[in-house]
Amino acid sequence: MKKLLSLILAVVMVAAMLTGCGAGGSANKVGVAMPTKDLQRWNQDGANMKEQLEKAGYTVDLQYASNDIATQVSQIENMISSGCKVLVIASIEGDSLGTVLAQAKEKGVKVIAYDRLIMNSDAVSYYATFDNYMVGTKQGEYIEEQLGLKDGKGPFNIELITGDPGDNNARFFFGGAMDVLQKYIDNGQLVVKSGQTDFATVATAGWSTENAQSRFDAIIAKNYSDGTQLDAVMASNDSTAMGVTNSLEANYEGTHDNWPIITGQDCDIANVKNMIKGKQSMSIFKDTRTLAAKTVEMVDAIMKGTEAPVNDTKTYDNGTGIIPSFLCEPVFADVNNYKELLIDSGYYKESELQ
Ligand code: BGC
Repeated sequence: MKKLLSLILAVVMVAAMLTGCGAGGSANKVGVAMPTKDLQRWNQDGANMKEQLEKAGYTVDLQYASNDIATQVSQIENMISSGCKVLVIASIEGDSLGTVLAQAKEKGVKVIAYDRLIMNSDAVSYYATFDNYMVGTKQGEYIEEQLGLKDGKGPFNIELITGDPGDNNARFFFGGAMDVLQKYIDNGQLVVKSGQTDFATVATAGWSTENAQSRFDAIIAKNYSDGTQLDAVMASNDSTAMGVTNSLEANYEGTHDNWPIITGQDCDIANVKNMIKGKQSMSIFKDTRTLAAKTVEMVDAIMKGTEAPVNDTKTYDNGTGIIPSFLCEPVFADVNNYKELLIDSGYYKESELQ
């Protein structure tokens, strides 16, 4: 009898290990779906989320999807079937998760949209992000100030580049920047020589550096190869800014006297190095530790059935209604404050930026 009991116990324990159930198993398992390892920030986001969730006592299934939508969908399916109770998802394409998230909803699995809003799904409980519109306005205001546009200076030549059209954030970044810059394009203080100003044309598939570079190779060849000066590039983030910089290094530097103002976002290491070298003018620091901490508070609230922290209940409509959101504050970064922001705060080591 005793033997039989311990056999049953052993079988139960093995089954629990295999299914991830039991103490530390699926009862408190959280799935974290990240878009790609290609961009530095998502590696940091994933690592921070895992570390902080584990510290709070949760088991974490962290997955990266190589920017492939089908891969992300199947990772989420696995998370649901393996018993995750909450899913934290940074989507590759905001509109592609409706079907899989319907399954989540059916099983009572809660969903938090992380950084990027998931569109047209009523399975999303919360959205944790940075103030995306403010990111864009900070980029636009930087150009406005550097060029003295408020004082009527100009005309200056500017080109524009934003992110993936399937990322809801890209519209907020671009919209925020254009709410500052459009009036100067309209009154002629800013001239977009390529004529490329609408969202669809200045968008960059996959936020890819290579796509950004090849678009700028064509723009420079057509509009600036005769020595015409490019004064500013409004780039929505660091990966696209890097494509612009690469293109200028190949097609502009050495044949022109100036280097344009280039904006960015994320404070990726390669871009901070460019800021130090004077090749990128500014970036936006989004402290992914803070975003992870807020998201963990949301997970905790869902698990415990309490109120999650939100500070915005009017901005982010995903097509099924407003998603209660927490917006962290994006911070302006340039060569003058990067040490304080990035090194003193422990975000990077000084040696990483050399
Ligand atoms: C994020 C940015 C990032 C971009 C490309 C956006 O959704 O908010 O921080 O630069 O995706 O990955």
